[in-house]
Order: sequence, then structure tokens, then C-alpha cells
Amino acid sequence: MTKILVTGCAGFIGFHLSKLLLSSGQNVYGIDNLNKYYDVDLKKRRLEILKKYSKFKFYKIDVFNKKKLLTNFKKEKYHYVIHLAAQAGVRYSIDNPDQYVRSNLVGFYNILEGCKNTKVKHLIFSSSSSVYGMNKSFPLKENFSSDFPVSFYAATKKSNEVMGHSYSSLYKLPITVLRLFTVYGPFGRPDMSLFQFVKKIKNKKNIYLFNKGNHHRDFTYVDHVVFAIKDIIKKIPNKKIPFRVLNIGSSNPVSLKKYVKIIEKILGLKAKKKLLNLQKGDVIKTYASLKETKKIIKNYEPTTNINLGIKKFVEWYLDFYK
Ligand SMILES: NC(=O)c1ccc[n+]([C@@H]2O[C@H](COP(=O)([O-])OP(=O)(O)OC[C@H]3O[C@@H](n4cnc5c(N)ncnc54)[C@H](O)[C@@H]3O)[C@@H](O)[C@H]2O)c1
Repeated sequence: MTKILVTGCAGFIGFHLSKLLLSSGQNVYGIDNLNKYYDVDLKKRRLEILKKYSKFKFYKIDVFNKKKLLTNFKKEKYHYVIHLAAQAGVRYSIDNPDQYVRSNLVGFYNILEGCKNTKVKHLIFSSSSSVYGMNKSFPLKENFSSDFPVSFYAATKKSNEVMGHSYSSLYKLPITVLRLFTVYGPFGRPDMSLFQFVKKIKNKKNIYLFNKGNHHRDFTYVDHVVFAIKDIIKKIPNKKIPFRVLNIGSSNPVSLKKYVKIIEKILGLKAKKKLLNLQKGDVIKTYASLKETKKIIKNYEPTTNINLGIKKFVEWYLDFYK
């Protein structure tokens, strides 16, 4: 029986991934600490859906707790580990760096230890497009410099990549790093712009556009991310150092201004926009090259365009919060 561990299973991407794997008949083990970074009720509602599948088993564990985590790894002996549990958010990392050290650095090290000790076949984990910092050449390729992060969040993600490489080199632990580009979709995160904008426009509140709305983001519909992860689980890197980095994006950057226009059109409401200056920690543009990704994931085609993706989010939001 193949055992797949998904950490952060009550989170936005972890939920979608677990659901996809369960619906294809896999045995999924989920770990999450259900922290209060955003509405815990939303995390619990996602979990309730997963718990309907008989092949799902949930453990409430904080990955910072090395003893508890390693005991769990020893007991379950997972074959594949998809590590998505982390303290997310670029802006929050400026005022709350402790949380990032705790979950993203120490927690990540504990995951590496668990994978090493129990000889996990493949560790896949989520890094972020933010590691590219202020690179000005587009589209962003995996071999571009990622040594100059402009947020502490990005610094922890880049640290994970280099920590992972050392374990891959020392212990031949196969690792795939996925640099995710602004993921959105139903059950999305309340701290992210799409959720905030829809909520505020609906409630006739001001929305704040940093960099005067001139940010460009390579918005990526969540289905493309989780289908990519599912496809890659058994595509284990087999080089001398079994380590690879892949972008997971849509290669179609959209400006924040255009993004808001689409939301307005779908909601049939006008936004009260407040244009602000560039915020500390924010990168100006993200735009993924998918050349390497398509070599590994043969059918990787991010076909859900931004109009359809936002429509699906809005439909979910209006139904969920009715
Ligand atoms: N959503 C995006 O646009 C995006 C972009 C780039 C990278 N990522 C990365 O993808 C991963 C998943 O992101 P998401 O959007 O689903 O975020 P999320 O916050 O919805 O999910 C993360 C989950 O991990 C859990 N968690 C956090 N710290 C933990 C800890 N110490 N121990 C156990 N569980 C813990 C949280 O409770 C949460 O349920 C994260 O690593 C994030 O940094 C996300």
C-alpha cells in the first residue's frame, strides 16, 4: 500500500491536492497544526471534506515539534512526502519573522530529517516565485539568480531549497522543488488579494492597490498546481544528486489593474480603489518560464484563463459565505 503524506493538508493547496489524490484512490495522510494565521473555520471545513474519504488519515501535528513529527514518520513509513505546511504570506513576514523561522526553517529541517531517517522515495515541496526577487529579465527561468530575496518569506523559501540540496547530495534524498506562482481558486486563502478584493468590493469597502496597481502577477489556477504535483510524484529525480527545481506558473502575467477589472465585471460592481506606493518586500512582476516544467510534466498546460479562474473563485465565495 503506497502511503502519501501531504503536510498543510488543511491549507488551500494541500486541501485541493489531498482531494485530488483521494479521488484517484490513493492513501493520503495529512498533517496540519491548524494555526490561526487565518480563519480556522475555513481550514476545518476543508478538513471535513477530506475526512469523508475512507483512505484519508489526519494527524494534528506541528512540524516544529521534531519529536512528535519523527515519531509519526517512524510509525507510518511514508513512501512519498509532499510538504506544503509553511507560514505563507510576504507582507506578514516583515512584522512576524519568528513564525517563519519556526515553521519554514526549523519545521522544514524536521521534515528533511523525517524523510532521511525513513528513506522516503521522493520529497516534493513548495517554494515560491518570490525567490526570484527583483529579477528584470522575463520569463523567469529556474537557473536565474535567486540569491537576492527582498522579503523574509522569500529568504526562508530559498533557504529550504539550499537545505534540501544538501540532504539530496549527502543522503541521496530525491527532491523536487516547486516554485509556485500566485496560486488562486475556490477555497482560496483569506489573506490573498483575490479573497480580499472580492470581499471588500462586495461590502463596498476600499481596496488598496500597491505600486498603483502596476504589479504583474503570473496568477496560476490551483487545479494546474495540484495536477502537476500528482503527475510528478512518481517522476523521481535520478541524477547523481537527485534534486530538481521547477516553476509552476501559467506564463501569462496579468496586471493588478486588469485583475480588478475582471473581478468588477464578474461581480457586476465597481471597486473603490485606493492607489498606494510600492510596499516593502513586494516584487514588481512575476512571469514563469515553463520550458523545464514541460520537459518533466508532459501535459502541463495551464489552460484555465484568468477570467474563468476568477469566475470559479467568485462562485465558490458567494456560495460558501452566503
Ligand atoms: N498560495 C500561493 O499563492 C503560494 C505561492 C507560492 C508558494 N506557496 C506555498 O505553498 C504552500 C501552501 O500554501 P497555501 O496557499 O496552501 O497556504 P495555507 O496557509 O492555506 O496552507 C498552509 C497550511 O499549513 C499549515 N501549517 C503552517 N505552519 C505549520 C506548522 N508549523 N505545522 C503544521 N502545519 C502548519 C497551516 O495551518 C495551513 O493549513 C506554502 O508552503 C506556501 O508558502 C503558496
